[in-house]
Amino acid sequence: MLTVAHLEGSVQSNFKKQLDSILLNFKQDRGNLIPILQQVQHELGYLPGEAMQAIADFLHLSSSTVYSVSTFYTQFKLVPSGRNVVRVCRGTACHVRGSASLLRDIERRLGIKPGETTADREHSLETVACIGACALAPVMIINDDVYGRMTTTDAGKALGNYRANKETEMKP
Ligand code: FES
Repeated sequence: MLTVAHLEGSVQSNFKKQLDSILLNFKQDRGNLIPILQQVQHELGYLPGEAMQAIADFLHLSSSTVYSVSTFYTQFKLVPSGRNVVRVCRGTACHVRGSASLLRDIERRLGIKPGETTADREHSLETVACIGACALAPVMIINDDVYGRMTTTDAGKALGNYRANKETEMKP
């Protein structure tokens, strides 16, 4: 009979295999720390603590060094992203057309700040620099969908469409 312990063991072993195959592509050179972190995040979606420890062992670095680098760069995530990733453009054109107040409104609706994920893991919030759609400023992106000329009202409606349980009301 398959037990939870078996499943957990199988997930752990897949994780280890995945990590080992990533590390095989790199020399044990400390200069490879950032490329390895980028590759692990690309494949796993974030940097689990076990992965950071394995990378530290591989490069003969302390785990605190790997952790410091991972937290210094905003590109790295230490927790998995939510099911939906909401990005608000903070480039100049979007800023001039109100992206700061749009961002504040989205923060309030979701109850999180950029770089955070809601407790139900439904949404993560991020800011991005110009995505090259300045004519549509202010721009919001949810997953791969781009929303232009966003008002706070439109943003609230758009966010509501990405909830798994649409019966649960988003903050108005
Ligand atoms: S500044 Fe936002 S798309 Fe260019």
